[in-house]
Parts: sequence; C-alpha cells; structure tokens
Amino acid sequence: MPSSLPYVLVLYYSRHGATRQMAEQLAAGVERVPGIAARLRCVPPVSTTCEAVDPEIPAEGAIYASADDLRDCAGLALGSPTRFGNMAAPLKYFLDGTSELWMNGALIDKPATAFTSTSSLHGGQETTLITMLMPLLHHGMVYAGLPYSETTLFTTQSGGTPYGASHVAGSRSGRALDDDERTLCQAQGQRVARLALALTALKGVDR
Ligand SMILES: Cc1cc2nc3c(=O)[nH]c(=O)nc-3n(C[C@H](O)[C@H](O)[C@H](O)COP(=O)(O)O)c2cc1C
Repeated sequence: MPSSLPYVLVLYYSRHGATRQMAEQLAAGVERVPGIAARLRCVPPVSTTCEAVDPEIPAEGAIYASADDLRDCAGLALGSPTRFGNMAAPLKYFLDGTSELWMNGALIDKPATAFTSTSSLHGGQETTLITMLMPLLHHGMVYAGLPYSETTLFTTQSGGTPYGASHVAGSRSGRALDDDERTLCQAQGQRVARLALALTALKGVDR
C-alpha cells in the first residue's frame, strides 16, 4: 500500500550499478527525516533500434518512473552516470518527455538535487552535475547542492562536490562507494528531504 507521506523522488539511470548504489544512499538519507519518504525510481535505457523492447520491470534496481511519480513528488534527487562530461541519454530522454509538467508548472518551487558517478577522478563530475541542473531550473525547481558544513567535502580523496554527491567508480567501474561518498550521499538526501518539507509548507504563501 503506497504511503500517504510526501516523498522525494530519487530518480536515476545506472548501467553498471554505481549510480544505483548512490541512489540507495540518498534514499537512506531522505528516510532519516521524519514525515517524508523516499521513492526510488529509474529510467529505461534507450535503444538505437526502434523495435527493441525492454521488460516492463527492470532486472535489478528500482522500477521505472512514471510522469505521475515526478508530478507528485515534494522534491527530486536526480542521478546519472557521467557520459562524456554530461548526463546519460536515457535520463535526458526521460526529462525531454516532461513538457506537460513544465507547461503546467508542476515542479515549480520544489527542491531538486543531482548526483553522478564517473570512472575517473577528473572525468567531468562537476560538468555533469551542472548540465543536470539546467532542465531542473527550466522546470522552476530550487536547486540544492552540498554545503561545506558537510565537512567531508574538505577531506574526501574520492567523490564529493558542492554541486552534488559524486562517486569515482574506477577504470573498470567496479569500485564500491567509500565511507566519504556514502556520507555525502546521505547528507544530500537528508538535505533535500528537509527542504522538501519546508517548501511544501510554503505552498499556501502567495507568490
Ligand atoms: C559512453 C560513456 C561515456 C563515459 N564518459 C565518461 C566521462 O566523461 N568521464 C568519466 O570519468 N567516466 C565516463 N564514463 C564511465 C562512467 O561514467 C562510469 O563507469 C560510471 O561509474 C557508470 O555508472 P553506472 O555504474 O551507474 O552505470 C563513460 C561511460 C560510457 C559508457
């Protein structure tokens, strides 16, 4: 039975599982905040062949997101692997299908944040996070990165940026999240959850 609590949609694409691990940590951070839940959803891959059909339920990870999942969220955490310094096409494809939500202003004044995984340390985490921010701003969302009060940002030797959580998966994409990356993912989930509750409460206030 679906919860009646407001929720943060943790929406991601992941091919090898690294971004999925991050999404699960962000969701754990959201769930630490009383009065709000996390809803984990992913997007399907896109295919170069028009005939290709994917199973309705993905083999692993969260189920696929619907437009309603996005419309009804109180906040959004968006996760993607870095692809040539940018978000992955499947996530962009999903966002490109959200014009109706944009026209209706469904996401205005809701908080959003982004997270990414790369194979290399300097492989474009910040550029990816910034490109993920653009469609969120067009939707009227309020972007929340990670403040340096999260002191792990000063000491991490792997992932973690003020633009959003990040993860270095290594050249073979097999490196698991370390403690610093996990801490920052959870802090980011917690932050977007708190902001979602605060901005939901602002709904009744005249613009
Ligand atoms: C087409 C393609 C482009 C990529 N571009 C980059 C890149 O620009 N920088 C980088 O460090 N890693 C890059 N990678 C590696 C992925 O970002 C990395 O393996 C990531 O951890 C995968 O996340 P996932 O396990 O959630 O699929 C690329 C991978 C692919 C397949």
